[in-house]
Amino acid sequence: MSQRLHTEFLGVEVENPWCVASAPPAATGKLMADAFDAGWGAAIMKTVGPVEEPIINVAPRIQTMKKWNREIAMQNIELITDRRLSVWLDELKTLRKRYPQKMIIGSIMAPGHDMDAWAQLIEAMNGVGCDAVELNLGCPHGMPERDMGAVCSQDAEIVYNIVSTAKGASKVPILTKLTPNVTNIKMMAQAAKRGGTDAITVINTVNGIIGVDIYKRKPHLSVNGYTAIGGISGNAVKPMGLKCVAECKQATGLPISATGGITTWSDGVEYLLMGAGQLQVCTEIMIRGFKIVAGLNKGLESYLDQMGYQTIDQAKGELYKNVTTFEYLLEHSSSEKVQVNEETCTGCNLCVVACHDAGYDALKLKEIPDLKRTQGTRKVAEVISINVRGVICASPCVQFLHV
Ligand SMILES: Cc1cc2nc3c(=O)[nH]c(=O)nc-3n(C[C@H](O)[C@H](O)[C@H](O)COP(=O)(O)O)c2cc1C
Repeated sequence: MSQRLHTEFLGVEVENPWCVASAPPAATGKLMADAFDAGWGAAIMKTVGPVEEPIINVAPRIQTMKKWNREIAMQNIELITDRRLSVWLDELKTLRKRYPQKMIIGSIMAPGHDMDAWAQLIEAMNGVGCDAVELNLGCPHGMPERDMGAVCSQDAEIVYNIVSTAKGASKVPILTKLTPNVTNIKMMAQAAKRGGTDAITVINTVNGIIGVDIYKRKPHLSVNGYTAIGGISGNAVKPMGLKCVAECKQATGLPISATGGITTWSDGVEYLLMGAGQLQVCTEIMIRGFKIVAGLNKGLESYLDQMGYQTIDQAKGELYKNVTTFEYLLEHSSSEKVQVNEETCTGCNLCVVACHDAGYDALKLKEIPDLKRTQGTRKVAEVISINVRGVICASPCVQFLHV
């Protein structure tokens, strides 16, 4: 195996930055072993809760959304693991023995006001061989009603209490997994940092309803015609994920484990460039299986070749520093002129219509000599507005050249 993807996260050496997220693909020790055998560098067990909390799932609980015949998002209303803590502890010990080189991460959840429960779970995790433990403060459905999951990272004081309790009891580094369903995620990340977290994981799923069956007149994911607000994952949530990675990194400077919408190697590179150090995947594995990791690795390696990088660490970036205020952009906004690329323009008029109907009205068609023919002309778009900054175009056949 190539060493070029070899990296480090929270002091642990891993063969690549890819990590199976805490979710159905890590629902048992056996599945985590399958993931390791397929080539994943790290895996996070499906979240376990206090022993006395009954976990009973509904069915159905998963629904995907497709566009252009490809899944772009998924809603789930699944709870945390329904398997007993003692079973998990045995499986984690076995995994540790069998996979000394892999990064094994525990995942726990307890009520936001029960610090004893948090301490007990952490103590149970101590000594089973995990390299780190993730605190799941992000599950958006089913658990918040029981004072667990997302409600815990919607209140900075609760975040602080949980993290400081966990950190005080843990023998290994702590990752704090936050919900994106807050107005100000920076406050939550800072509270986690004050509590002593070693890293932040963002994002858990985004609150949503995946869609409506317009003929059956009911939500797509429903039980008896009724639905509950669930967690949206998959490629569509990547913009929210990138935003949260940038904000949490800005607010804390801590290592970030990114999760949310990674479906290809280039999604992963975007997160690395934004400032993340680990790349978690869930939905894409649920759709295509563990073997996607081979393609993810191959894609990363060819990217390194293209960019002339020797190692994956050279692909990491600090673009979170480039995420700034609107005022800054306004001050530095250039007065670049925009030109239509006449060579590629087919004169289809789409951009003219789009630009007019979008309210910018900066384009029209003009005739130019058709050089492919000895005589005659062809139509191309031209920029007519003085306010060229306002030109927008969603038409795929037109390229704008900044001159
Ligand atoms: C069906 C399902 C179950 C999940 N269960 C958990 C869980 O038990 N603990 C947790 O921390 N996150 C859970 N998640 C969230 C994922 O770990 C991940 O953060 C999220 O799905 C975003 O990544 P993705 O876009 O690659 O799926 C679950 C997600 C899905 C789709």
